Amino acid sequence: MPLDISAAFPAHVGIIMDGNGRWAKRRGLPRTEGHRQGLEAAKRIVRAARNSGIPFLSLFVFSTENWRRASEETGFLMGLLEEHLSRELDFYRELKVRVVHSGDRAGLPAGVCREIDRVMADTADNSGIVVNLAINYGGRDEILRAVDKALRSRPVGTAAALTEDDIDRAMDRPDIPPPDLIIRTSGELRLSNFLLWESAYAELYFDGKLWPDWDAEDLAKALASYEERKRLFGGKR
Ligand code: IPE
Ligand code: IPE
Ligand code: MG
Repeated sequence: MPLDISAAFPAHVGIIMDGNGRWAKRRGLPRTEGHRQGLEAAKRIVRAARNSGIPFLSLFVFSTENWRRASEETGFLMGLLEEHLSRELDFYRELKVRVVHSGDRAGLPAGVCREIDRVMADTADNSGIVVNLAINYGGRDEILRAVDKALRSRPVGTAAALTEDDIDRAMDRPDIPPPDLIIRTSGELRLSNFLLWESAYAELYFDGKLWPDWDAEDLAKALASYEERKRLFGGKR
């Protein structure tokens, strides 16, 4: 990586961008308007993360469980995503963002897959920040697909037990280090199936603000909190 990563600075930040629906409800607006504003917040935070020098940012965009919502909402979200990815390449170019994807492509509409592929190809050489979009992503689903892939890729008749390295290599983004910091907005205190394997030693930061209200200052506060943490990884204090 071109960026210098000090010990007190996170190499990889993951964000569970929650609270779009409540943001809209408080204003008497449809949930869809919350998602529109949530997308604007995501763009603000990508810019802020890039300016802060964070090398890797994972954004939880749509979970494998979000299909439980009304088809009007899931359809709107898929359309919003497809439109954003197809129309806003300049945004990624300007910030030198390299876009990658985590999640199960098999369950995504063809149009969304096509735009993800196009943006990934068009931004592959960018070196400003890697933005990992978790779309149709579930931590359990990722682990299951990785175990399956790791087992299938072994020579027939192999007796040795799988190792953690085998699973690491078979995950969706083996090229991204585990998250140092996971942020969740809107006051919910749970991971909701985000980066389960990778977050084993992540520092957690919960904030009460709803995602559409998040800005650069909120990210700065989360980073300041992270810098005060003492990470032990099971070692001695
Ligand atoms: C996060 O906001 C966006 C997605 C999960 C797609 P929500 O839509 O979950 O907003 P709340 O939690 O209902 O307020
Ligand atoms: C997690 O938020 C998923 C995303 C932010 C994309 P949810 O709103 O789906 O999580 P729960 O249902 O409150 O746990
Ligand atoms: Mg929610």
